[in-house]
Amino acid sequence: MSNRPILVIGSINMDLVIKSSFIPKPGETVIGESFYRACGGKGANQAVTISKLGGNCYFIGKIGSDSFGAELRENLIKNGVIIDYLTEDDLEPSGIAFIIVDKKGENSIVVAPGANMKLKREDVERALPIILQAGTLLIQLEIPIETVEFSLSLAKKYNLMTILNPAPVRQRIDKEIISLADIITPNRSELEKITETELKDDGDIIKAGKKILEYGVKWVIVTLGSRGVIGIGKDREIFIPAIEVSPIDTTGAGDVFNGALTLRISQGESLEKAMRFAVICAGISVTRKGAQSSIPTLEEVNNFIEKEGIEV
Ligand code: ATP
Ligand code: RIB
Repeated sequence: MSNRPILVIGSINMDLVIKSSFIPKPGETVIGESFYRACGGKGANQAVTISKLGGNCYFIGKIGSDSFGAELRENLIKNGVIIDYLTEDDLEPSGIAFIIVDKKGENSIVVAPGANMKLKREDVERALPIILQAGTLLIQLEIPIETVEFSLSLAKKYNLMTILNPAPVRQRIDKEIISLADIITPNRSELEKITETELKDDGDIIKAGKKILEYGVKWVIVTLGSRGVIGIGKDREIFIPAIEVSPIDTTGAGDVFNGALTLRISQGESLEKAMRFAVICAGISVTRKGAQSSIPTLEEVNNFIEKEGIEV
């Protein structure tokens, strides 16, 4: 079992969340139910997941010099994420996400990225000492695309395993960037945008996944919300159903899945077992509110597995 550090490069946001019975249509105003603030951002959520599940995780990201930034930093420290390469921008505010969560736990999110868009290649280069020690890089798309491409290239140069969570997809991502990933983890709509195809059923999802394999990616792992996840490889597919729970807030479920999957693969677990474990962690997270606040610890996951008698 490898204990080499895992590197997460990505976004960090303060999530401002309103619970509402439904998500308003354009032009509509609705009276919501309650408001809460939670630490979020896809990169930070994934880093916190790895750390809470027992991994040795370094996070490279950027906050503003403001009170949200200070709170976000404290939360990373509290959860054991190593923040030697978390930097502050003097001009831009910390990233903010406005989130509406409906009665089914589904969400709608708008992000004002602020300082996240100031995360540049120099910030990644500064972390070279840790890149040389790390075994795995996990990265998403809530930071400048040039930084994503540079980070993946550098990770490849130093033989790290690379996992790209292509979220959110803003525009078509270049084939060159995708080909730098060993594993790519889109959700269904991200897969549609990347491959520019309409996905009507699982057959279409598998076909689209196979198209991405042609770029040189080893596995395409597509998350399907309450249905679970499907892994598409060269010679086989792996389907893992989601666990049955009553969702309260699905914000960050994909991040928990990605963090847990990355941790277990980097510890030498088989892909199928890592996917099973990650599906359980993500399933637990949707039963709690907030992004980082909903992430289970390893002890909580183990207790759940024992209580439910789940085979992993
Ligand atoms: P988000 O953007 O909200 O982080 P996502 O779209 O990236 O999420 P999803 O496919 O919605 O990712 O969810 C990731 C994983 O979380 C799923 O593969 C599943 O295992 C788990 N999950 C999500 N929703 C539910 C649910 N309602 N019940 C059980 N498990 C769920
Ligand atoms: O994936 C969920 C995350 O997306 C939220 O925490 C929000 O900050 C946005 O980055």
